[in-house]
Amino acid sequence: MLRNYPISAHLRFILEKIRPEMRQYFFEDEKHGLPFSRDKRAVVYQRAKNVLDKRPFGTQYDVYADGYEWMRHSIAPRPHAIAPFRVTIGGPDCASPYSASIFNISAMSFGALSPNAIRALNGGAKKGEFAHDTGEGGFSPYHREMGGDIIWEVGSGYFGCRTPDGQFCPEKFAQAAAADQIRMVELKLSQGAKPGHGGVLPAAKVSREIAQTRGVPMGKDCISPSHHSVFSTPIELVKFIGEMRRLSGGKPTGFKLCIGHPWEFLAICKAMLATRIYPDFIVIDGKEGGTGAAPLEFVDHLGMPLKDGLTFAHNALVGIGARDRIRIGASGKIASAFDIARAIALGADWCNSARGFMFALGCIQSQSCHTDRCPTGVTTQDRSRQRALVVPDKMQRVANFHASTMQSLIELTATAGLDHPGEFALDHFSRRVSASEVMTFKQLYPPLEPGELLRGTRDLRFAEAWEIASATSFRPLQIPGLNVRRQALSLG
Ligand SMILES: Cc1cc2nc3c(=O)[nH]c(=O)nc-3n(C[C@H](O)[C@H](O)[C@H](O)COP(=O)(O)O)c2cc1C
Ligand code: SF4
Repeated sequence: MLRNYPISAHLRFILEKIRPEMRQYFFEDEKHGLPFSRDKRAVVYQRAKNVLDKRPFGTQYDVYADGYEWMRHSIAPRPHAIAPFRVTIGGPDCASPYSASIFNISAMSFGALSPNAIRALNGGAKKGEFAHDTGEGGFSPYHREMGGDIIWEVGSGYFGCRTPDGQFCPEKFAQAAAADQIRMVELKLSQGAKPGHGGVLPAAKVSREIAQTRGVPMGKDCISPSHHSVFSTPIELVKFIGEMRRLSGGKPTGFKLCIGHPWEFLAICKAMLATRIYPDFIVIDGKEGGTGAAPLEFVDHLGMPLKDGLTFAHNALVGIGARDRIRIGASGKIASAFDIARAIALGADWCNSARGFMFALGCIQSQSCHTDRCPTGVTTQDRSRQRALVVPDKMQRVANFHASTMQSLIELTATAGLDHPGEFALDHFSRRVSASEVMTFKQLYPPLEPGELLRGTRDLRFAEAWEIASATSFRPLQIPGLNVRRQALSLG
């Protein structure tokens, strides 16, 4: 190219090199930029700054395009509900249930995020009385500094509760989990952006503080294995959840995953029934969720998207008669009140947002989080870059974003003719499936009856996967006459 067409080759090179944050300003329209459209980012910035967040003139969506979704409103709106909207998490086996906001900060580790980002997120959570998930990188001094409610996430690296050779250490776990600030404990099985991948924090980024927080040596790559060493079967998994709850003194304990093989999730359900050990909560992360760094194939093509995973998990728990005792959290591109209402209709009790709160911190979606050169100080361990993030300002913005989103949810709830967002149901939402055809969410995601899996269901999404799910192995049972490959395909 350079030899034959020197001018166009240079031009092409320059255009390719335009960084994403610049490209988005020149070439994106308001609604279609990715992962988050300019409009979606703008509304977070406006709500975080407490400035005008209204839009003039009318929607920019093509409301006749396939996939367009809307909420049905009522002719008789209700009076505005009184926030804060909270949900109590903690089943009958939990000694200290937690009253959580229905909108919280999703898991992001110290290591992926800078110390100032952690401070500002946790300070915002404290001001707004919502929860902040540590991510798998441990409970750091920066989480402690501001005193906001913490959900402590434990991943396959067991950071903050590991032996020198990387195994789970019950004593260290119990000691750390006893902190009053830790309100819930979450075992991470996977996340939507890179399910089953694990992760590496390169040696160069393993600072003294990160090494201390995680309990790993400095000067060595810090590895999160792709799988847990403490359990290898569904029964062992639920027993481990029960053990974590016991060791934490009875705090609500659950797990987070992006659904892969449907029969594996159903195998965990069977293990709950077999052992009578139930998690207090399950967080369903959608394929569309974010990450600090992951291979392209994983980011683009692995894991079940949120709407499918969430309805699957919700219905599975309904189907085994355990939905009342297990709360469901949801994450995956949730950043507005509409997103929250829709997730609740699909089965969530509360929602988490990672990148929404990153925007509140000032993230400009330049997508260089993996390079340690974040221009806004959110995802860097470089001290000079971290200075871009002024903690008192940004912690207020985090709290503002949460409060304004809740205010918008109050208005949506009233408009739907409801008193509480927990009342959003499948028939409150519709989706256009062709130019002349609309389906309600109830038609798109038909609900199971309570206990239906136990009685034997004919629902194609569940019937065969339920048959082949085993409480004693994540591998599907080989049942003569059932074709596992066909089941996998029909279940998506
Ligand atoms: C920078 C960054 C770091 C993350 N680190 C973790 C992590 O340590 N543990 C985890 O379970 N999820 C992690 N996630 C995923 C989020 O918690 C969440 O599941 C997902 O991003 C939800 O999508 P959202 O960003 O669209 O809200 C991370 C996401 C981002 C953007
Ligand atoms: S966190 Fe920083 S590097 Fe990552 S997208 Fe936002 S501004 Fe860019």
